[in-house]
Amino acid sequence: MDNNFDVIVIGGGPGGYVCAIRSAQLGLKTACVESRGTLGGTCLNVGCIPSKSLLNLSENYHSVLKHYNGLGIEVENVKLNLKKMMMRKEESVSILTKGVEFLFKKNKVTYLKGTGSILSANKVSVENNGKKIDYNSKNIVISTGSKPSFLPKIDIDEKIIVSSTGALSFSKVPKNLIIIGGGYIGLEMGSIWKRLGSNITVIEFLDHIVPGMDQDISKEFLKILTKQGIEFKLNSEVTNVKAIGGKAVVDFTNVSTKKRKRVECDKVLVAVGRKPNTKELNLDKLGIMCDKNDKVKVDKNFRTSKKNIYAIGDVIEGPMLAHKAEEEGIAVAEIISGQAGHVNYNVIPGVIYTSPEVATVGKTEGELLKKGVKYKIGKFPFLANPRAKVNENAEGFVKILVEDKTDKILGVHMIGPNVGDLIGEIAIAMEFGASSEDIARTCHAHPTYSEAIKEAALAVDKRAIHF
Ligand code: NAI
Repeated sequence: MDNNFDVIVIGGGPGGYVCAIRSAQLGLKTACVESRGTLGGTCLNVGCIPSKSLLNLSENYHSVLKHYNGLGIEVENVKLNLKKMMMRKEESVSILTKGVEFLFKKNKVTYLKGTGSILSANKVSVENNGKKIDYNSKNIVISTGSKPSFLPKIDIDEKIIVSSTGALSFSKVPKNLIIIGGGYIGLEMGSIWKRLGSNITVIEFLDHIVPGMDQDISKEFLKILTKQGIEFKLNSEVTNVKAIGGKAVVDFTNVSTKKRKRVECDKVLVAVGRKPNTKELNLDKLGIMCDKNDKVKVDKNFRTSKKNIYAIGDVIEGPMLAHKAEEEGIAVAEIISGQAGHVNYNVIPGVIYTSPEVATVGKTEGELLKKGVKYKIGKFPFLANPRAKVNENAEGFVKILVEDKTDKILGVHMIGPNVGDLIGEIAIAMEFGASSEDIARTCHAHPTYSEAIKEAALAVDKRAIHF
């Protein structure tokens, strides 16, 4: 095999594999290095995809168990077969990771199996089973993603004290599951295991859940999850977790009162954020600079301090989201091939796939207040949306924030049915610099959940029709 490439991408997750495919589409001779054995990174293997599979399956189970009889659909002897459910999840993951391998073949991307490290500005070494091969490349893209952050002195054994990876593969429904961290992972995993029968307690350091989220949404989300039976201990810092005799004990301190507490449970999920995978790449020796959080420093063209070495995704600044990494992957491929690659960081949606879903894009009200921007708000509850009512899915609301003077949409925050898909409409509107008037004047099909967005846009000028 010819060992010379135009682009070598290190890391086959959503940032890396998308960058590799786009580079190849643009006529660049491209290779992608991946050590996991399967492509797709954390997202496809142990993140977004398996969690969405379990969220969907557990929601179906829970609906049959709790809601169907009341709807006139009588189902008896509903039983959970967790083993089968986990097998379905694995099948979904396998189909999708193989799909990426197929896309590599289709686009003529060379898949280099093994662990990549950068030897010099133009040389990448790939190690597989003790065998090392060096490859030359005009450009190198670092897309090595992230791994879970852990708390000091807490050992993750992936059996009793687990990361999200362990929590996606429990062989038995834990009776009592304690989750440390009320962020994206904690709340999605908590929802899955609650629906399958666990008692869930979320211990969160802050006085609210999901840091950085619009406060109205965060409060409503907390209210809804509490109603679903998830217990929250806010303002609480976990200081120690120990596995003793097949159980776990968790020590936490109330941040304001300093009162200490100890609770016992069957399993503990540590979901306190993620940190970039930059340590093993030899970056120091190459003179590639990282910030205090070990994230690679890049310029606006994703270039590191070495001109032909780029970095994208979780290893650089910004939200650790698969779709953000994908956009950066495409931008870098286009920049390398001489085009004007660009990512609009004002329009990166965030979705939490609980029930109801939470979706958000653009500025929060808190951010606008902090910046002194004058704004108007339009709000509309799903309770007044006919589709949500007939589907018995009417929790939550849509909140639109617009600039006072120009009516330009600055941010939209939603909690409710299918809002993870509805946010696409807003992202396009914001990319085009739309106003709330543009949305309010656009015909939305009836009866759909999307009408709640139109009504919220109308509500900006206090002219919502159905509320
Ligand atoms: P996160 O940053 O969303 O939440 C971690 C939470 O842990 C914070 O609320 C923090 O205050 C709390 N915490 C930290 N130390 C604590 C302590 N000692 N005691 C109690 N609470 C403590 O991180 P998470 O949920 O682990 O997610 C990691 C990344 O993965 C996020 O950046 C997220 O964007 C991404 N992700 C995205 C998903 C999606 O798009 N649906 C799903 C899952 C993860």
